[in-house]
Amino acid sequence: MAAASDVIADLPRLGLGLGLRNLHFEEILSSRPAVDWFEAISENFMDSGGRPRAVIRAIAERYPVALHGVSLSIGSTDPLDRDYLARLKRLADEIRPAWISDHLCWTGVGGLNSHDLLPMPLTAESLTHVAGRVCQVQDILERPLILENPSSYVRFVQSTMEEPEFLRRLAEATGCGLLLDVNNVFVSCFNSGADPVAYLEAFPCERVVQMHLAGHQQHGGHIIDTHDRPVRPEVWELFRLAWARTGGASTLLEWDGDIPGFADCHAELLKAKPYMDGRFDPESVQPTGSGGGAGVSNPVGFLVPRVMDSAVLEPA
Ligand SMILES: [Fe+2]
Repeated sequence: MAAASDVIADLPRLGLGLGLRNLHFEEILSSRPAVDWFEAISENFMDSGGRPRAVIRAIAERYPVALHGVSLSIGSTDPLDRDYLARLKRLADEIRPAWISDHLCWTGVGGLNSHDLLPMPLTAESLTHVAGRVCQVQDILERPLILENPSSYVRFVQSTMEEPEFLRRLAEATGCGLLLDVNNVFVSCFNSGADPVAYLEAFPCERVVQMHLAGHQQHGGHIIDTHDRPVRPEVWELFRLAWARTGGASTLLEWDGDIPGFADCHAELLKAKPYMDGRFDPESVQPTGSGGGAGVSNPVGFLVPRVMDSAVLEPA
């Protein structure tokens, strides 16, 4: 256990990175922009022996690269997909990523794939289930797994613990690291009526290897995690807190819809800098949640609408 913790603590702090997207390949390879690191979606490269594989090899020779998966389905009751893990390990052995991450979620059951990252019931039973699978994955990959807090729109009424506690206990049991998606914190807390600052204060930041930033869309009392626009001011403010609490964990901007040119993505990423040296004034953040109706506020002014208090996602 101690050795696994040491591995997490020894992972590098890479600075500010961008999600690697197809339409930016040429510019990255030709102009070698001054980006600290890139994150590649594992599934986009692990099955390709052609140009995508050549591109990821070339970029990994020039920049630190992390692999980020969306198909592990660590929370499912289906058996682990050992063929998927073998292909992932082959890619990792080839490009030597800084680490490999995926999400605390399940994507399907009974052999069916929802193609979505579904939330889990957060119970002692599910913790034992996931912890055993994380250990198996780490044994196969021969490196620690880094797990991300997902964005969620509903919660199981069966849950007996909050997500930060679940992830803390999972990390303690397995030695895994954590990917703190700051936008997901805001989205999930808004949708469930929770306080994002309290979430961050409860989060085991000492286990955070990486952070994510992204844009989202608000539709009335719900926020959808769309990754198709700039980061919201409220999320930047949360990032200021997250940066301080994690001691400057490697930070990455995700942009997956209506993706602008490389220069615009890079400019959005660099907006992080004022939040990393304490110059930003938290008083300038105005409450949000205009469509959410009645809400509760916390000391830094986020308005948290009380929606979906009775939401139930019945297990399949
Ligand atoms: Fe994310």
